Amino acid sequence: MCGFFAIVFDKENKEMGKILTKAGRRLSYRGYDTSGVVVLDDKGNFDLRKDVGKIDEVANRMNFHELSGKRGIVQLRWATFGYPSPENAQPHADCDELIFGAHNGNVVNTHSLREKLIKEGHKFRGENDGELLVHVVEKYWKREGNMVAAIMKAAHDLEGDYACVLTERYGEKMYAVKKGSSLFLGVGDGFICVSSDLPAILDHTRHILPLEDGEFVEFGPDNFILRDLETGEVIWKEPQHTDMEVKEAEKEGYPHFMIKEIEESPKKAEELLHLLPSHPSYEEAVDLINATEKIYITGAGTSYHAALLGVYYFSKIAKKPLLISFASEFAELHGPVLEDQDLLLVVSQSGETKDVKNVLDYFREHSKGKVIGIVNVLGSTIALKSDLVLPIASDIEISVPATKTFINQVTVFLYLSLLSAKKRMIPSPAGFDILELVPGVVKESIGIAKEKVSEVIDAIKDIKEFYILGYGITYPAALEGSLKVKEVVYVHSEGMYSGEFKHGPLSIVEDGYPVFFITTREDRHMVLSHMNEVKTRRGKIITVAPPDPELERISDIYIPLPTSNYFLIPISATVFFQVLAYNLGVLKGIDPDHPRNISKTITVD
Ligand code: M6R
Repeated sequence: MCGFFAIVFDKENKEMGKILTKAGRRLSYRGYDTSGVVVLDDKGNFDLRKDVGKIDEVANRMNFHELSGKRGIVQLRWATFGYPSPENAQPHADCDELIFGAHNGNVVNTHSLREKLIKEGHKFRGENDGELLVHVVEKYWKREGNMVAAIMKAAHDLEGDYACVLTERYGEKMYAVKKGSSLFLGVGDGFICVSSDLPAILDHTRHILPLEDGEFVEFGPDNFILRDLETGEVIWKEPQHTDMEVKEAEKEGYPHFMIKEIEESPKKAEELLHLLPSHPSYEEAVDLINATEKIYITGAGTSYHAALLGVYYFSKIAKKPLLISFASEFAELHGPVLEDQDLLLVVSQSGETKDVKNVLDYFREHSKGKVIGIVNVLGSTIALKSDLVLPIASDIEISVPATKTFINQVTVFLYLSLLSAKKRMIPSPAGFDILELVPGVVKESIGIAKEKVSEVIDAIKDIKEFYILGYGITYPAALEGSLKVKEVVYVHSEGMYSGEFKHGPLSIVEDGYPVFFITTREDRHMVLSHMNEVKTRRGKIITVAPPDPELERISDIYIPLPTSNYFLIPISATVFFQVLAYNLGVLKGIDPDHPRNISKTITVD
């Protein structure tokens, strides 16, 4: 997804190109297609360099290191409006190269506004919505004669959620707007900067002001004025000191972040277990959950799958129903029935996923209930907007496929459901001791997966599609396993309930067609029937389950999970599919850290 950083110094900075490149690297975890910078002095000179490619490639090719200036913007773009091309790369200039700007997010009425502006005589160089934004500001700047009024007028025309930064060629200030996407201001000695991402700022200063939606800021090197985007009224807020650490993620000898992060999971799970009993928010969250009748839970992608496993844990351990939906469907499914006393649990690794933020905003508008955020990135918008934040303590996750964060998300749900049962004195089928098993089970699962993965790869490497079937509590693992394969191997795999398979999909099965089954011992009788239905059609059965002679007999390939604990099998099975997807993806020449077309943080609708 797009991200930007902009800085204004009190005097010419010869390192400007290097500073912008470094900031670009901080933004790069989001996943992107193009990189660009613009650098300006106070005499009307500017230098705009941008191209398709990663920040370091483009910086080397276009010699960013030689750029010096007082003001600079760097932007990384993930294509939504317009193909990844130099013209669509950001930053952008207006018709006469008098205003420069970059943005993050989406201007959804780009097509109609662009047509209108073209009729009014504007000259566009590409199709990107960031360029449109600069032209809309240009239009009002020419009319109003100043940036503050122009930005406020432009905001009325621009629909969608975005954050942007703008500067005039003949000027000394910068302007940044927050309308839906995250934006932070950093105040330092002799400079002020803004960014869509906190880590890019923390390299320079620890005095931070997170902007709120509907605010915009005008800033020079020594001072800033914060205003309401609608009324223009000045808002008085001071930056606060933050101790947040910026950790430089390194591969540490691993070929990819994905495998490094998978291998890190046991340690991160262990760290989480140390945090859980001493963190007051968990206790508070469970009290809220226990006191609420109607509880919604939502997330996207992997976080949704973790939430779904959470629903099973709450149902089976705490006897508490949670109403789940994909974040992108929340308003459609639950909107009409929301009530003031409801509770919302939002699950997000990044804390910036637009679909999830939409749910939070929607819930705020339609209910007076509380929001609990289960997030990894603590300074994120979702963390800031939640009433209560439950950290998952996974540390930074770089690789686009979520792995270690899934493990900690589900461990959080296991803990919450156990605590919920305990506080309500519900007899629970599991004790707190189960939590202590998580790191070891994950570690052993990685070991077994690595041992068995080549056998499975031999069987499926040329296959264009397959099913992963789960039953009950293993269903979320089937969905997550299938997501990992799609994401990293570019092969269609479908996760579904094994009980549903006979209602249609079974007709696909022919000689050698692979079907994965994940099961617990408790569910084996039911799953054995489902396996038989595939076996009798000569399908190839690959089973992911605890050792079990009867299951082994019917299976063509067997992955013996290192635990037979009912509640831990979904975790263990998911680890197997993470390792499988990683190895198969690498074998196919795919970079698992940056799968095509997607990004780590999806900040658009
Ligand atoms: O940051 P979030 O957890 O909110 O992200 C949600 C999904 O975009 C994310 O889990 C995505 O599905 C992953 N890349 C899957 O590996």
